[in-house]
Amino acid sequence: MSLELQFEETIAHDQRLEPRDWVPDAYRSTMVRMIAQHAHSEIIGMQPEGNWITRAPSLRRKAILLAKVQDEAGHGLYLYSAAETLGADRAELTEKLVTGRQKYSSIFNYPTLTFADVGVIGWLVDGAAICNQVPLCRSSYGPYARAMIRICKEESFHQRQGYELLMTMMRGTEQQRAMVQESVDRWWWPSLMMFGPPDADSSHTAQSMEWKIKRHTNDELRQRFVDMSVPQADALGVTLPDPDLRWNAEREHHDFGEIDWAEFKQVVSGNGPCNAQRVAHRKAAHDEGAWVREAAAAHARKNDERRGS
Ligand code: ACO
Repeated sequence: MSLELQFEETIAHDQRLEPRDWVPDAYRSTMVRMIAQHAHSEIIGMQPEGNWITRAPSLRRKAILLAKVQDEAGHGLYLYSAAETLGADRAELTEKLVTGRQKYSSIFNYPTLTFADVGVIGWLVDGAAICNQVPLCRSSYGPYARAMIRICKEESFHQRQGYELLMTMMRGTEQQRAMVQESVDRWWWPSLMMFGPPDADSSHTAQSMEWKIKRHTNDELRQRFVDMSVPQADALGVTLPDPDLRWNAEREHHDFGEIDWAEFKQVVSGNGPCNAQRVAHRKAAHDEGAWVREAAAAHARKNDERRGS
């Protein structure tokens, strides 16, 4: 059987492709793009919430937030390793991130203005991430699919801590409730943008569905997320900032308003509220860590020499 046929059979039988298997160049580059973008998102995603670690209102909240931000670092490293199984070079991926040649999720280019944002990011942003990533546990590339299983488990802890924080604030003072609502108003629409452009404008969806990298389209997952969030918002006692949001009995889904795609394009092309700050911070952290990488490489070299002698 030719290598190409073997590849097609693996996909047709819903089996996983592994690092040693032959895959077409386009499959490899799609997978590297998607995994790298995901890894960068986890690493850049540490910044908006990391901003609140020193100002968390209690030891308990600080410990939870610290653990969560550390989890994001772990996810990033895990995903960079998955990209390496496809032949990508980690240093090159970082270089592409800090020079704007590779993307990361639009959502992390918005500022975290109040502590309620920590809760809302957990509820909506991590909720959207889970919605998008659970089907990726069945993605056709083995190392990515397996990474997703662990990552989704941790993301669901993140989502719950966010929702619990918001529940606590909603049981608090009038001011705290207003703070939660104000935060929901800012994060709702950017969370919907996380799922990517509408299907009609999505350049990769059709091919990625064919290769079973993606199991659902961007619009399908966005709809699932809206349907999921409405009862959660009710239970919380907040209003989602969309006057067109209503149940459509015929479709058995919620209808919702038009997303500001011009804003999405601006943010993705580097002109969102915090893009410059996020990338500059990442670059500074990478530059400041150069001595650690050098020391680790020297240590590994010495160990190799000792073993060789
Ligand atoms: N932010 C930034 N870029 C985006 C976003 C977004 N929210 N959505 C889509 N894009 C980019 C795509 O990477 C693609 O870039 P390219 O032109 O450089 O190729 C372009 O916009 C067109 O989009 P699609 O054709 O729809 O791309 P794709 O099929 O890859 O779908 C999606 C995008 C849904 C984000 C997919 O890549 C995916 O599921 N990725 C894995 C999950 C992930 O990366 N999550 C990160 C945030 S979650 C978190 O870290 C907590």
